[in-house]
Amino acid sequence: MCGIIGIISSKEVSSRIVNSLKKLEYRGYDSAGIATLVDGNINEVKCEGRVDVLEKDISKFNLKGDIGIGHVRWATHGKPSKINAHPHSSEQVSVVHNGIIENSTILKKILEKKGYVFKSQTDTEVIAHLVTDYLKKNSIKNTIIKVLKKLHGSFALGIIFKDQNDLMVGAKRGSPLAVGYGPNENYIGSDSYALKSMTNKISYLEDGEFCILKKDQIEFFDTDGSHINKKVMNLSKNEIDYDKGHYKYFMEKEIDEQPSTINDCINEYIDKYNNQVNIFNFPWKSSSIRSVMLIGCGTAFHSCLIAKYWMEQSTNLDVNIDIASEFRYRKVRFKKDCLYIFVSQSGETADTYAALDLCKKNKMKTCAVVNVVESSIARNADLVLPIHCGQEIGVASTKAFMGQMLVLYILSLKVSFDQKSITKKEYKYKLKNLLKLSNSAKKTLNVDQKILNIAKVFAEAKGSMFLGRGYSFPIALEGALKLKELAYVHAEGYPAGEMKHGPLALIENGMPVVVLAPRDEHYKKTISNMQEVIARGAKVLLITNKNKDEITSENIWEKIEVDNLDEDLIPFLMTIPLQKLAFYSALKKGYDIDKPRNLAKSVTVE
Ligand code: F6R
Repeated sequence: MCGIIGIISSKEVSSRIVNSLKKLEYRGYDSAGIATLVDGNINEVKCEGRVDVLEKDISKFNLKGDIGIGHVRWATHGKPSKINAHPHSSEQVSVVHNGIIENSTILKKILEKKGYVFKSQTDTEVIAHLVTDYLKKNSIKNTIIKVLKKLHGSFALGIIFKDQNDLMVGAKRGSPLAVGYGPNENYIGSDSYALKSMTNKISYLEDGEFCILKKDQIEFFDTDGSHINKKVMNLSKNEIDYDKGHYKYFMEKEIDEQPSTINDCINEYIDKYNNQVNIFNFPWKSSSIRSVMLIGCGTAFHSCLIAKYWMEQSTNLDVNIDIASEFRYRKVRFKKDCLYIFVSQSGETADTYAALDLCKKNKMKTCAVVNVVESSIARNADLVLPIHCGQEIGVASTKAFMGQMLVLYILSLKVSFDQKSITKKEYKYKLKNLLKLSNSAKKTLNVDQKILNIAKVFAEAKGSMFLGRGYSFPIALEGALKLKELAYVHAEGYPAGEMKHGPLALIENGMPVVVLAPRDEHYKKTISNMQEVIARGAKVLLITNKNKDEITSENIWEKIEVDNLDEDLIPFLMTIPLQKLAFYSALKKGYDIDKPRNLAKSVTVE
């Protein structure tokens, strides 16, 4: 993970580096640092903790300099500490790095034998010493070519050099790096958002490429140092909404934004006038696609799982799913008639990107379902289906999950219509029903009072379970993931039918269990599973949809009813109380809701 920024200018840079680091904090927030060049010398300020702490430290040091690099860290090698914070400097250079140098142990031994002394436990420090070593006999450009060839693993790098008052290097392999063009100044950054307050003119480095920036010029090179030309993209000028409005937390705001996320997405993909799906840029004939492989990580993977249920239900496709970190290392039998779909909020997740890259190298059909349309995954897929939900800042994904599910649901409707696996009447009926979703989501948001009390129990629990069958199973997994990552409570998501095969042994008196039981074909069976956990002492929160048939069990601890929409759409609604449950459980414990411990928003290392 980690976020990097670099500015080369004729004006002081430290405050702008700090501002960009604040925007990059979603990538890592366990330590931060900055290095600038002042009179040819490298000055560093680093700290453990957030960018706010760094900002205070910088003001004490009165850090000057017109060239500088900055970093926010998500620790991989070495614990979060001031000494392990980037930049890492030698006498000659200072380096910021996002990624993992896999051969750092071997390189470190070689460099130590040559007399280089290491201060940190990071893999990054080898880069600083390696560059210094090569600089003894090589020009800067040749040094970079040679160093990059020595490094195994992934990286985005920013490097500044002692006594080089008009020069900065950026390089990329695996981890993203944007390059920005400004008025008599230039920039590098982990994403374009970090640069957006300074420029909307951006290029992206591709794997193996590096660049040499001066104030008024940027040169791009391939792995062997040959000059390359880069396309300059003009990004939209819309500033990102970093304002929490009347909310205290971004997550709270993002949960509440979901009815409009749904509306925006529907407006993009549904032609309401003709009542049809509006995906016209589909580059393949639907007859050329017989199977689908959906790939993602974490919450994005859960949206792949629910899409499998929808697609199997309504299309003739053979639908498979995989976790990106597994897919990329399996001996996959690639199929020409398969559409490989990559789901990712950030579009930068290292494993998902590597899985896409693998498919591209094998000349497969690829589609990206992403939020960030300028991301690496979006730029490399054949077809991009944006989820249109705006910047998601809370580390725990909420509205993006809603958007991912919605785009995949709409895609499954389009394919089923094209394949004639559902009738025109069913297709039109499902599309009409979809228009009711936003309103019902809005109503479902009004569960705070009830959830507040329920959350008190979940927050204090030793462990908890989330159960569901069919469409509700992926939502159970997602509910459990949210509770784990925000409230640090052990939570297991299970298919309700699996309980007897082992997990039932975990149920003990007072254990909180969420049972997701919409009135669908699984309803009776799920209710029986619910009775089995109640009989063993579980405190059950039942989430179902409103129906005239009352549920007859006096022993249900709490019940939440969502609107009675078409059964395909109930999972969208059931997601909302589970997001709120995790939110209020974390709030109760006083945890950092937008930045849970040990996590980061964009996972750019494997
Ligand atoms: C959980 C969460 C993560 C992400 C996962 C993939 O709340 O946000 O599990 O879903 O890291 O990230 P993206 O979607 O950016 O590929």
